[in-house]
Amino acid sequence: MLHDNQWDDEFPQDPHICYLNHAAVAPWPKRAADAVTAFARENIHQGARDYPRWVQLEHKLRGQFQTLLNAPSKLDIALVKNTSEALSFVAMGLDWTAGDEVLLSDQEFPSNRIPWEALENQGVCVRQVSLDTEDPEAALIAAMGPATRLLSISSVQYASGLRMDLQRLGRACRERDVLFCVDAIQSIGALPLDVQAIDCDFAMADGHKWLLGPEGLGVFYCRKEVRDRLKLTQYGWHMVEALGDYDREDWVPASSARRFEPGSPNTLAQHALSASLELLLEVGAERIQQALQQRTAYLLQSIAALPGARILSPTTPERRAGIVTFTFAGIDNATLYKQLMDAGVICAARGGGIRWSPHFYTPQSVLDKALTILRDLLQHNKKQSH
Ligand SMILES: Cc1ncc(COP(=O)(O)O)c(C=O)c1O
Repeated sequence: MLHDNQWDDEFPQDPHICYLNHAAVAPWPKRAADAVTAFARENIHQGARDYPRWVQLEHKLRGQFQTLLNAPSKLDIALVKNTSEALSFVAMGLDWTAGDEVLLSDQEFPSNRIPWEALENQGVCVRQVSLDTEDPEAALIAAMGPATRLLSISSVQYASGLRMDLQRLGRACRERDVLFCVDAIQSIGALPLDVQAIDCDFAMADGHKWLLGPEGLGVFYCRKEVRDRLKLTQYGWHMVEALGDYDREDWVPASSARRFEPGSPNTLAQHALSASLELLLEVGAERIQQALQQRTAYLLQSIAALPGARILSPTTPERRAGIVTFTFAGIDNATLYKQLMDAGVICAARGGGIRWSPHFYTPQSVLDKALTILRDLLQHNKKQSH
């Protein structure tokens, strides 16, 4: 039994819904909604009178991301629109030569494939390495050759939930002088991620999944030593070193990662996301990971015990994160997905299966109710097919 009602205030549960879709778009904690409400009221009554406070909040958010990622400095953190934008900053910013190679896995979400494939007209070769092996890191490392310039990989694969050994990959990249880029959207907020320990050059994520924030505001970590290697692809008043000196005609890009933020920030989303990160930092990455592992272990065990179940996610703790994907022999996946959604089990159809993704706070009662609904649907479908 999970001891979990301490989160009821932050995550009041709708009795008609079992929310198991944090790997897609997560609910907000109450404090994020409160922050947005307060910000809206402030805007109605005072407009931007207290803009300096908003700027302070932006600094706070950078600091929160610095802590969350263990980045060496706040200056390494850019606030971006989403993961795709940050990946595009890297892909479009590096100086490529025809024949250069980018390595990806064969399980990446399109955000971590399309920006690299867009380089093919410059003669860049994109190679997808199969992760369907006992030792996926070994397969990626073995694929690195003299032309490999960069490895871009999701920390956790979006469909299967396979968790990568980033430290091992980071070490291999450094030894071979290969740049290391991590799409971290399926892990930060769910698992600890230390950009220094894994020795990555770039890491990015959006706020609307495991970070429990709204869509449209994400983070881009760019290692200081490689910042100048990215040519800029977006320009505006906010990305210059002398921010706020509007009379000045000459300009240089900010020396910090703010150079990747061309214009007015998303202050509304910043208020929400900062509140969500405050909660995650209060709970602590280790505790979150532990609570999530308990929940995924419980789901894996319970689903695997159902007749005809096939688990598509890794089952060992070091290989899994917050994603449990499964199918049932003889049951049409699309039909089962629709039935689950209609019954209030909010989940996703991914990678040929049903993907359930709880978070650290998901109550035991929600897991049990979703499992009962699943069991009932399986029985119903079996009866129908006879
Ligand atoms: C691995 C991965 N990368 C990126 C994204 C989405 O990226 P963006 O923040 O650009 O919407 C997703 C969303 O499902 C994802 O699973």
